Amino acid sequence: MKVETAQRIHSVKEYYFSTKLREVAQLRKEGKPIINLGIGSPDLPPHVTVREKMASEISKSEGHGYQSYTGIPELREAFSRWYQRKYSVAIHADEEVLPLIGSKEGIMHISMSFLNPGDEVLVPNPGYPTYQSATRLAGGVNRPYLLEEENGWLPDLDALEKEDLSRVKLMWVNYPHMPTGARGKEELWSRLVKFGKKNNILICHDNPYSFILNPHPSTIFSVEGARDCCLELNSLSKSHNMAGWRIGALVGSSEILKEVIKFKSNMDSGMNRAAQLASAVALDLGEEWYDSLNKVYRRRKEIAYKILEELGCHYQTDQAGLFAWGRVPETVKDGYAMSDQALYEADVFITPGGIFGSGGEQYIRISVCTEEKELTEAYERIKELVKDKKAVQ
Ligand SMILES: Cc1ncc(COP(=O)(O)O)c(C=O)c1O
Repeated sequence: MKVETAQRIHSVKEYYFSTKLREVAQLRKEGKPIINLGIGSPDLPPHVTVREKMASEISKSEGHGYQSYTGIPELREAFSRWYQRKYSVAIHADEEVLPLIGSKEGIMHISMSFLNPGDEVLVPNPGYPTYQSATRLAGGVNRPYLLEEENGWLPDLDALEKEDLSRVKLMWVNYPHMPTGARGKEELWSRLVKFGKKNNILICHDNPYSFILNPHPSTIFSVEGARDCCLELNSLSKSHNMAGWRIGALVGSSEILKEVIKFKSNMDSGMNRAAQLASAVALDLGEEWYDSLNKVYRRRKEIAYKILEELGCHYQTDQAGLFAWGRVPETVKDGYAMSDQALYEADVFITPGGIFGSGGEQYIRISVCTEEKELTEAYERIKELVKDKKAVQ
């Protein structure tokens, strides 16, 4: 007997890292000492006060039941204070913040809440692959917009305006941009808000890297009128070393959030109460938390740049976020070839840029979520590979 899978499942593949990390685990099992510079999962722990709060709350006998579908008030208020303190933007704690099980989940919620079959979605190329998968699963049609290094990896809104946008409902944007590390600017936010309003497109800004190596963290809600046509996803995964906790938030007008809640409340329930209370502690951490995090990442990124250098890649030196992104030399076929050679001949796993879209095919991405010692070891191995003239030609 074979039960047929739904059509929508044929529209997506298993997530790249889900399969690739299985291969990495298998190689390790076979005795290969693989250094994983692939995924952006912070290796450092959350702040000690966050862990203590989690431990004390979880050991209480009460608070283990279902939690509110819209997050507990303590967490919503903490998100609101965080937006005020870090971005100087007022967000109403009861109406304009919807805590989520991570922002990845929110991408699906938004897609399911707004897309009808055939509706089009502008997605960045290169960009986070989940935007495209969520569109497909929701029955929508992706319209990738090319980001180019020459243009600072920013969307060319003038070129988009010349196209027929009548079927476009959503646009995904993400600055600091993953995988390129490009930063957004205030001017970009106001242009996006104008673009969204004029073309009746919901602008969805995904903002998980705003506090990583980004001297001027910003939000699209700094623009007057952004609430009419924008949503923003934020997350504690990267900024607070809590990727496995699954805590994020969707910020937007109460009218739009109400629509998303219709979908979300049918799909999941509120997160663990102790985790929500501990997340509130994380959001209230002072400047020294972000400074200490960035101090570590700054040093690591320098090593990642050295690896790119060794591989003959071209790269910008002011990249925000958890990755170093570099263009492979002309002599190399593409990022896949370079990634394979690093994995199979130097036991270093580096992400090929092509998994983020055709615009990333000539690039590779190195994660800095690995301690300095291991990153340095990866650098030494790559150096050996290049020295032995085994580097991809
Ligand atoms: C651009 C981008 N958005 C969203 C996510 C997912 O974040 P979260 O852990 O909050 O689901 C990631 C994770 O790598 C990401 O790179």
